[in-house]
Amino acid sequence: MRFEGKRALVTGAAGGIGAAIVRGLRAEGARVAAADRDVAGVEADALLPGDLLDAAHADGLAEAARSALGGLDIVVNNAGVITRGPVTETSDADWALSLGVNVEAPFRICRAAIPILAAAGGGAIVNTASCWGLRPGPNHAVYCMTKAALASLTQCMGMDHAHQGIRINAVCPNEVNTPMLRTGFARRGFDPDRAVAELGLTVPLGRIAEPEDIADVVLFLASDAARYMCGSLVEVNGGKAVA
Ligand SMILES: NC(=O)c1ccc[n+]([C@@H]2O[C@H](COP(=O)([O-])OP(=O)(O)OC[C@H]3O[C@@H](n4cnc5c(N)ncnc54)[C@H](O)[C@@H]3O)[C@@H](O)[C@H]2O)c1
Repeated sequence: MRFEGKRALVTGAAGGIGAAIVRGLRAEGARVAAADRDVAGVEADALLPGDLLDAAHADGLAEAARSALGGLDIVVNNAGVITRGPVTETSDADWALSLGVNVEAPFRICRAAIPILAAAGGGAIVNTASCWGLRPGPNHAVYCMTKAALASLTQCMGMDHAHQGIRINAVCPNEVNTPMLRTGFARRGFDPDRAVAELGLTVPLGRIAEPEDIADVVLFLASDAARYMCGSLVEVNGGKAVA
């Protein structure tokens, strides 16, 4: 029970990785406020529905979680969107969506959460970046850029707020078997099960990640076992580097 007595905010809590993070934290004793657009199916200790593109919602999430749970120790900025294509095929709407959800919302949430965590003596923030934010993958220019921005923000905040007892790190997955990946396959006319199995053959460990493979590393970064880690970008890739 690594998280007994801890209170956590998780964004993207209804998604593949987010749901696994919520389950994992609660299984080890944390009370969790789950934030997503639609939280109807999410089991958590507080539900915070809303759109992260709404600046007031993002600005208020940390305080809403603190107030609902009676305190705040852990923040997981996990929500994300993927837009595909090179820059020449990126619309203004794709740009605004990607920057808004993947960069601006974590910025707003961290800006509000850090003083709350600091006032209580410290805490941990874990951001979900991506391997593609560390090295670029093809045909996802703006997505890669947003994850690089989040990775850089994590390194900067990790340095700037360590003195307040706040550890800020990021997990950087490669491909994970979640709705984000599967709907992308379906949209392009592939059978998601077959595509996931075929993609698994390109991974040295023999399969792509399941949400729990990523959630376990998020939990580690949020836990006291990672007490000396600040600003780290932890790749979780089954041995498959981005070429
Ligand atoms: N699946 C992968 O292969 C993969 C790889 C690397 C990184 N990631 C990252 O992992 C994180 C989780 O992704 P996932 O694979 O679980 O995807 P997912 O689509 O299953 O979950 C993402 C969640 O974010 C929420 N979200 C998106 N826009 C929102 C908004 N405007 N307001 C509120 N909530 C919003 C969605 O509703 C969804 O529940 C993302 O940041 C993603 O970029 C995923």
